[in-house]
Amino acid sequence: MDHFLYRDGVLHAEDVPVAEIAAAIGTPFYCYSTATLERHFRLFDEALEPLPHLVCFSVKSNSNQAILKTLARLGAGMDVVSGGEYARAKAAGVPGERIVFSGVGKTEAEMRAALAGGIRQFNVESEPEMERLSMVAQSMGLTAPVALRINPDVDARTHAKISTGKSENKFGIPIARARDAYARAAGLPGLEVIGIDVHIGSQLTELEPFEQAYRKVAELTGALRAQGHDIRRLDLGGGLGIPYTRSNEPPPLPSDYGEMIRRTVGHLGCEVEIEPGRLISGNAGILVSEVIYLKHGEGRDFLILDAAMNDLIRPSMYDAHHDIVPVTEPAPGAEQAPCDIVGPICESGDTFAKQRNMPALAAGDLVAFRSAGAYGAVMASEYNSRPLIPEVLVKEDHFAVIRPRPTFDEMILRDNIPAWLL
Ligand code: LLP
Repeated sequence: MDHFLYRDGVLHAEDVPVAEIAAAIGTPFYCYSTATLERHFRLFDEALEPLPHLVCFSVKSNSNQAILKTLARLGAGMDVVSGGEYARAKAAGVPGERIVFSGVGKTEAEMRAALAGGIRQFNVESEPEMERLSMVAQSMGLTAPVALRINPDVDARTHAKISTGKSENKFGIPIARARDAYARAAGLPGLEVIGIDVHIGSQLTELEPFEQAYRKVAELTGALRAQGHDIRRLDLGGGLGIPYTRSNEPPPLPSDYGEMIRRTVGHLGCEVEIEPGRLISGNAGILVSEVIYLKHGEGRDFLILDAAMNDLIRPSMYDAHHDIVPVTEPAPGAEQAPCDIVGPICESGDTFAKQRNMPALAAGDLVAFRSAGAYGAVMASEYNSRPLIPEVLVKEDHFAVIRPRPTFDEMILRDNIPAWLL
């Protein structure tokens, strides 16, 4: 459930008419709802009760400071994958002891920054990384808390580009090597082995692959404890999917997911962490765009928008579906006709939807892409020298621009002219 609903025929973000924001700041823009973000965080938090737990928001899904701050105030932890994300989490007021550092390629500088600023745990993904972290921590006279990310070889049954838990993926330490890897980590100075980490993919629409992975984690916990490792924390990753369209069967709810977690690992006496991104931020955001032209092509019609693949790359990159709805609600039973919905960028890949049934729209009308709060703004670029689009956060009946649209001059002035061209 989200807080983007039609009221009296106009789309609202909470209590603010979306068209009012468009009139104030121009299109395209991202618009987020505080109530939806908070609700989704709480659903996870409650789903894990009564286990000792921490819900670590996956910063990669939406890293705006205002979004992080909204969640941090509710007690969220953060899952970060780069020095930049770590800095953003800290800047949003998240204490180091609530930040988990994941990622296959952490650099020495990133390790150093996190150790200096405080960190809950590093999710270590390989033996070379283990050695590097040991060296860095030792050189700083500190101890790094470590969970090893295990690759459980489970098929997440999601899009190939966002599946991470099969043995052929680059992520984690193969489960067959786990015992050796833990023995090795325990012997390295500067590391304290505290737990196990697993993440098998994103946009999972069934619980079964998670369950398979978590059963393997439970079994491994027993085996490692028998070898003398003090496994006291399990990081179960993110990945629970969201409904991108109402026509499909909805994915399992966080409460079902929580119940399954209690069933599979609840008896182990471990503190549980999860790292959801999409389920917290995805349906808490829309992308608002204006129709520039309606073009009648050879045998098909094109709806040309002012948003493009540089603003929301998911349809081009993953063939992802986003519902696209008019900001003015069509009359009940209004006629619909198929069209291709495209952006202005000079590539055929700049297509949001093919032969999508849409009600009649004209130049100047506004549309909203639903479910655009996760992996939308964070994956945007300035391709075609289109400035990054603004982000707006709504709370009840007011809104704030949480990232402004840069001017062309601001964009150009980021480049430097070398002396020989002056
Ligand atoms: N933890 C780790 C270690 C991850 O790699 C990810 C996502 C998450 C947590 C959060 O997963 P979520 O709950 O959001 O599914 N750009 C793609 C998604 C990439 C996901 C990468 N890892 C998309 O637009 O669908």
